Amino acid sequence: MNTIIKKTTENDAFQVASEILQKGGLVAFPTETVYGLGGNALDPSASERIYKAKGRPSDNPLIVHIADKADVAQLAAEIPPIAERLMDRFWPGPMTIIFKKKDIVPKETTGGLDTVAIRMPSHPDAARLIRESGVYIAAPSANASGRPSPSTAAHVAEDLTGRIDMILDGGPVDIGIESSIIDVTGEVPVILRPGFITKKDFEEIVGKVTIDPAIMKPDPNLRPKAPGMKYTHYAPKGSLTIIEDELSPQLVTGNVISTINRLITDAAAEGKKAAVLTTAENRRHYHAENIILLGETASGEEVAKHLYSALRECDEIGAEVIYSESFSRGELGGAIMNRLLKAAGQKVIFV
Ligand code: TXA
Ligand code: MG
Repeated sequence: MNTIIKKTTENDAFQVASEILQKGGLVAFPTETVYGLGGNALDPSASERIYKAKGRPSDNPLIVHIADKADVAQLAAEIPPIAERLMDRFWPGPMTIIFKKKDIVPKETTGGLDTVAIRMPSHPDAARLIRESGVYIAAPSANASGRPSPSTAAHVAEDLTGRIDMILDGGPVDIGIESSIIDVTGEVPVILRPGFITKKDFEEIVGKVTIDPAIMKPDPNLRPKAPGMKYTHYAPKGSLTIIEDELSPQLVTGNVISTINRLITDAAAEGKKAAVLTTAENRRHYHAENIILLGETASGEEVAKHLYSALRECDEIGAEVIYSESFSRGELGGAIMNRLLKAAGQKVIFV
């Protein structure tokens, strides 16, 4: 399959993309979180194509993207008052809500579940594509299954060229990690995936909110409520390990630095190519040949924005072993550590 690539500034970009979506084809497009791989959410065969293009297990449901809050009523069987308050405060934006689904949403889109995940993105290109095509767009992140989510059109092209009809290039995304997912089908809302909108943000609007216990500390006896959270994800090809100071997990202490430097020396002795994931403020502490930056500073916004491109860079340079600093586990830091721990297959060395 020939994959058309067009910048969103090209005159006919949205027209071409809309026609593809209307005919059941697949278009990758930018959102404020990561690039999505879009297809018609109400067309079971389009959803099947999405799974196939990504190589994604078909029990892992897709998020349906809408451009107007009123559209929720077309897709959700019930809109609890809590959901109304969340939508008023955080949409358009990086929040996905789980609702009970209406029959028009096919099981192919929801991975067989009777609930549906809905998000109204704030990225103007995403909103324009949904409106102009007149299609509710089912879109997982536009990476091959298991790879880091794409924060640029080039990342999408790396994974999906030849497997999808079109890539709409709207430049690098703003946030860099996927939306927060919140389930409002029970009494107390539950966060199923941490993201840019944090537990504290949610609690300011709706009071008590819990976090799915299976997602922060993986436990083989607990099954995450968002099926996608059970898979190893974002993993670079090399082996990634996080080095954390047990006494001050949010700080890059002398202990962390000396351990990483020792591990780099050991890797060199074994003839292995090693890389370090750090920020610009700490890079001078390391003697590694390959230093990959997660941003200028360790602020959550900076690291979220660069995390996935940094993981992809590890593959580009052919790093065999990768050592990363750890980040604070509060709020946005928690969302970052959730991704980093998955990328590391939960490997942490405590010093
Ligand atoms: O920011 C985002 O959410 C991006 C952009 C493109 O919008 N999309 C995204 O989609 O991250 P994806 O498919 O990579 O992740 C969707 C997650 C998966 O973990 C999936 O299991 C969960 O949402 N999910 C979808 N529908 C669900 C449902 N009905 N119940 C529970 N979890 C659901
Ligand atoms: Mg994904």
